[in-house]
Amino acid sequence: MSEEDYGFDTLVTRFDEDGSGASVTGDVVPPIHLASTHEMDRPGTADHGYKYTRFGNPTRDVLESRLAKLAGAAHATACASGTAAIAATCLAVLEPGDRVVAFDGIYGGTRLLFEDLVVDSLGATVEYVDATDTDAVADAVTDDTALVWMESPTNPLLRLCDLAAIGEIAAAEDATFVVDNTFSTPYFQRPLEFGADVVVHSTTKYINGHSDSMGGVVLTNDDAIETAIDHVRAYELGGTLSPFDCYLTLRGLRTLPLRMDRHEANARRIAEFLADHPVVRRVRYPGLELHPQHALAEAQMDGFGGIVSFELDASEAETRAVLEELDVFTLAVSLGGTESLVDHPATMSASYLSDAEREAAGISESLVRIPVGIESVDDLRTDLEQALANL
Ligand SMILES: Cc1ncc(COP(=O)(O)O)c(C=O)c1O
Repeated sequence: MSEEDYGFDTLVTRFDEDGSGASVTGDVVPPIHLASTHEMDRPGTADHGYKYTRFGNPTRDVLESRLAKLAGAAHATACASGTAAIAATCLAVLEPGDRVVAFDGIYGGTRLLFEDLVVDSLGATVEYVDATDTDAVADAVTDDTALVWMESPTNPLLRLCDLAAIGEIAAAEDATFVVDNTFSTPYFQRPLEFGADVVVHSTTKYINGHSDSMGGVVLTNDDAIETAIDHVRAYELGGTLSPFDCYLTLRGLRTLPLRMDRHEANARRIAEFLADHPVVRRVRYPGLELHPQHALAEAQMDGFGGIVSFELDASEAETRAVLEELDVFTLAVSLGGTESLVDHPATMSASYLSDAEREAAGISESLVRIPVGIESVDDLRTDLEQALANL
């Protein structure tokens, strides 16, 4: 049986025996190569291929080859954070004067990066569109569009866009189509199969999965884009993923399918509970039939993920008070770890957006985002029940 025949759950447990030193001693897990520099055989030549860790590292090679296989990509470039992966992609693809079309629901940090790096420093322009409406994307993407930037589902409102349709729109205008797939991971969604040219992930989230490592990855089948991203990472940003973080991410990756299945099962139960609760004004979870894009989620995702967002029938002060009553959920930003967290985007994960930007992004004062963990779901439900009873 060759690796091409392996299922996803087998692929996550494997690592390459490609001369990278990963298993020369028969290790069943990849070792951490911490050396920052490697002895050369002759001046300028290292027969083993490694010279300096910012350019290449055996542990990072193992992680990159694993992530590429899982995403169906030819290349993976592991970066120091999801933000570094996004910055590397923008710097590799864009030139001054270029035009970007982006989903207006993207993660606030990406929006900030677009304003500071893409617009202010690079001199490109960004037009934000409601990409839940494919026609709006088709209208916005023109022959001077260099980059189409999507995220699906979005953080924190769990809005989706039609990846296949937008892939066709971008291809027709020769624009590079990038999808931030952080919420789904390759286990639940593989945008390259829907026409994306590049996929980015914050591996800080589900891919590492244990809230103990920062990282990001850029995945592509395009050799020229890969070469440009690799160059930017090594020589302009210097934002490579450290060997120790590569090891942690490889360790987390082994249980990705198990964790995602449990995150999803728990999230679905919590979303159903919230949908029936009298003080909850609106629940957002793509797995619920009441989600306006449930059919699209079913068509392009293999699972609906572990994030639930909801709005309370309450003021900002009341909403904050509810969050402080929670015991099993931890009040913290981020997502994707085994533990359930709770976030008040208006004052936490999206606090650095201006009031106008938050309003435009649909982030209200009573919005709550919960990355549902893998704990006993009855405990999570009971915890929410007691906290909401205070309203
Ligand atoms: C969808 C999405 N993309 C990118 C990022 C940035 O990742 P990092 O915090 O690893 O830089 C985040 C972080 O929350 C995110 O939610």
